[in-house]
Amino acid sequence: MLYLDFAATSACHPQVWEAMTPYALTDFGNPASLHEAGQSAKTALEQARTTLLHLLGVSEQSHHLLFTSGGTEGNNIVLQGVLRRWVETHPDKQCRPHFIVSATEHSAVLAVAQHLERVGAIALTLLYPHAENEGRLTVAQLVEALTPETILCSVMHANNETGVLQPIEALVQAVKTKNSACLFHSDMVQIIGKLPINLSALGVDFATASGHKFQAPKGEAFWSVRRWGFQRWLRCVLGVAKK
Ligand SMILES: Cc1ncc(COP(=O)(O)O)c(C=O)c1O
Repeated sequence: MLYLDFAATSACHPQVWEAMTPYALTDFGNPASLHEAGQSAKTALEQARTTLLHLLGVSEQSHHLLFTSGGTEGNNIVLQGVLRRWVETHPDKQCRPHFIVSATEHSAVLAVAQHLERVGAIALTLLYPHAENEGRLTVAQLVEALTPETILCSVMHANNETGVLQPIEALVQAVKTKNSACLFHSDMVQIIGKLPINLSALGVDFATASGHKFQAPKGEAFWSVRRWGFQRWLRCVLGVAKK
């Protein structure tokens, strides 16, 4: 069989499998354990985190990186986490927060946003890319959709069906110029591992990735977040304290 569908999933690369084997068979400690096996696993985990951040053009000083089981989980954490943080910090809840989401998102983003809208938790604007713009959103239509209540824009970088690349850097700049408090998430599941990505240049607050799209085994993914107020935010979003 000639397999041409890495956008759906890929086989694990033999070198990846080889590099991971010791952590399944010998160095299998829990990185939260204080004993030697745990600390050895922790060192490997932190090295992986640092390497990935550097590959994404950022560092531990500016960004955090968290491992998840998949892009679906990462996207859920971001969308639901941003809302949860807003609810915690707006106890009076006089207005509903507003999300802007591209209509061509993968269901791991779209279905979450539509669910939050259905249960009355958010107001939602879906942005439809114009055919004459080759499937790309324009800065003008994003800016027009922004309101003072917009707390999150979510636009994928590469589309999983068409491969269309959205102009993320320009979209982020436009959002931050009009509403600096609005956060920007980009589902980068179809681009990270395939084209070089510099999160610092793109300026996104959150990015999600998924290893099984670029020859890691299934169940290996990550999302990254800029470090602003991260400690407090993470406690609120995940209910856990991290360093
Ligand atoms: C753009 C995009 N986002 C998210 C996902 C979900 O990723 P995962 O399969 O790792 O949950 C996919 C998978 O097809 C995808 O293509």
